[in-house]
Amino acid sequence: MDRQMHPVPDWAGSASMTAEGYRVAYDAARTDPDGYWGEQAQRLDWITPFTVVKDTSFAEADFRINWFADGQLNVAANCIDRHLDTRADQVAILWEGDAPGAERRITYRDLHEQVSRLANVFKRLGVARGDRVTIYLPMIPEAAFAMLACARIGAVHSIVFGGFSPESLANRIIDCDSRIVITADGGCRGGKPVPLKANVDAALDHDGVAVDHVVVVRHSGTEVTMKPGRDQDYATLMAQASPDCPAAPMGAEDPLFILYTSGSTGKPKGVLHSSGGYLLWAAWTHQHVFDYREGEVFWCAADVGWVTGHSYVVYGALANGATTLMYEGVPNYPDHSRFWQIVDKYRVATFYAAPTALRSLMREGDEWVKKTDRSSLRILGSVGEPINPEAWEWFYRVVGDSRCPIVDTWWQTETGGHLIAPLPGAVPLKPGSATLPLPGVLPQIVDAEGKVLEGATEGNLVIADSWPGQMRTVWGDHDRFFQTYFTTYPGKYFTGDGCRRDEDGYYWITGRVDDVINVSGHRMGTAEVESALVAHAKVAEAAVVGMPHDLKGQGIYAFVTLNSGVEEDEALRAELVQWVRREIGPIATPDALQFAPALPKTRSGKIMRRILRKIAENQVDALGDTSTLADPAVVDHLVANRIEPG
Ligand code: WTA
Repeated sequence: MDRQMHPVPDWAGSASMTAEGYRVAYDAARTDPDGYWGEQAQRLDWITPFTVVKDTSFAEADFRINWFADGQLNVAANCIDRHLDTRADQVAILWEGDAPGAERRITYRDLHEQVSRLANVFKRLGVARGDRVTIYLPMIPEAAFAMLACARIGAVHSIVFGGFSPESLANRIIDCDSRIVITADGGCRGGKPVPLKANVDAALDHDGVAVDHVVVVRHSGTEVTMKPGRDQDYATLMAQASPDCPAAPMGAEDPLFILYTSGSTGKPKGVLHSSGGYLLWAAWTHQHVFDYREGEVFWCAADVGWVTGHSYVVYGALANGATTLMYEGVPNYPDHSRFWQIVDKYRVATFYAAPTALRSLMREGDEWVKKTDRSSLRILGSVGEPINPEAWEWFYRVVGDSRCPIVDTWWQTETGGHLIAPLPGAVPLKPGSATLPLPGVLPQIVDAEGKVLEGATEGNLVIADSWPGQMRTVWGDHDRFFQTYFTTYPGKYFTGDGCRRDEDGYYWITGRVDDVINVSGHRMGTAEVESALVAHAKVAEAAVVGMPHDLKGQGIYAFVTLNSGVEEDEALRAELVQWVRREIGPIATPDALQFAPALPKTRSGKIMRRILRKIAENQVDALGDTSTLADPAVVDHLVANRIEPG
């Protein structure tokens, strides 16, 4: 499989970057980053031109990450205003609702008006430059309006995915001290309602939440209670607001947004992205990795609650003046053809999704795909988790009719945009490999001691130098930022991923090497699920590990020790699964929960997760060295009582 190369499409000669162009760009960005990125940054409109390009160091003594630091720009003006002369009547956002037939078309002119009005609404509600605005919305155009309205006035948005619980929402509101929340009455996914406003009400009851205003978009028609003085109707506020709002000149290093993501320890951290470097990275990668062409319809199927939605549904696509498709629903509603019907309806050129969605459709058979046309498709993209070769081949052959290159894009919330990905038409593909680094990206593979491994090898993936789209800090905890990413391998950014490099220099991501699991392309810290479990009155201790899962990529396997005297039974097992769902959100639902009278520990009391992982994976013959266990009988009990994940 490694050596398989897929043919180059007939349009490769006119791709936004050729094979030779890629080599030249890669060398230029490596040898002269100031020159290369100084020039690339001209794709943005600057209010005050920058005079310095790169000013960065990953070393502890002078740790800093600044790009274009003395330049000023406005991200919303780059995504909207500068397109008005040439494409005011072009559709900026094509919205397809959960129910077939529900659609909206927002032109760049409409976008300008809606964003300006909403920016004025925010101002009237007291939002000033640098203030944090929490966005808890379904996949509707108002989510993009809210992001861009913040950017227009220099406020910092923090989007919380609509699938997160009131508890998770409250923690994120408290962490960034946000005084305003914009939400909707409810969302709809697969014909089922999502009670967003009710979740906000519950979140706002938490101690420590100090929200003054809740703006409510009427969308699903769900009944909601409006708290006088606090809750306000979006449409009413918008009607009263002026459609003129100047775009604030912002420093390139001023924060654009916070997005919470899971790590191996502690609470989710607020990843903070800048204005200039981030927008450049989102726009550059959208242009070149998707070979975006004027007039094409671009569809990134991720929710705006995740980084993929931030960079490719909204910022990268709109900065390039594209028509971006926003879909509210799920892949299999009302039936398994829905994605491809949408592709045909809007003549979508680029379709970008997570392997988990593909796997769920693949198992329903090819007929659902084959009965649609899909001739508009030119590029397919994959993101969020390693794509297994079967899913890759199915995507390539069945969905793309063996015509469309697949860009398997490796990146992270922290990286702002793609880091390792093929440039379609320029870089030959190998199923399952994210291929080669983009210009400006210096990946290295290191061993556990940090020794740089050369040639064909396998180890941990680090990035040796800064790129413009890199996160700048963890909100409110700069030391945590440095400790998390730059101390494991001093002087380098540690990705947390394992990786193999083959004899052609291609990179193959092998998955997380830390305590993060990737469930359906969503990151989940095992520590978060554990702390949710121990918050239950009957639980004494919990250990959570990942395990292979056919559809989700990885599933969640929890080992739970109950308080003494508490009876183990099926009702309690179900209750604990529901408990985690309520505490964190449905994406954290354990796939298996095994009661463990005790957990395997070393004599110093450290839980031996390696052994738990093997049990979860049902590799009980490969438990490895158990001689350091305090009580080996514990393991025998766990092996004998292993749960088959449901
Ligand atoms: C994993 C999503 C293999 C990886 C954009 C990374 C991938 C984590 C790929 C980041 C890919 C993402 N191939 N693995 N193409 N893309 N990952 O922050 O483990 O939600 O560290 O960002 O997803 O997840 P995050």
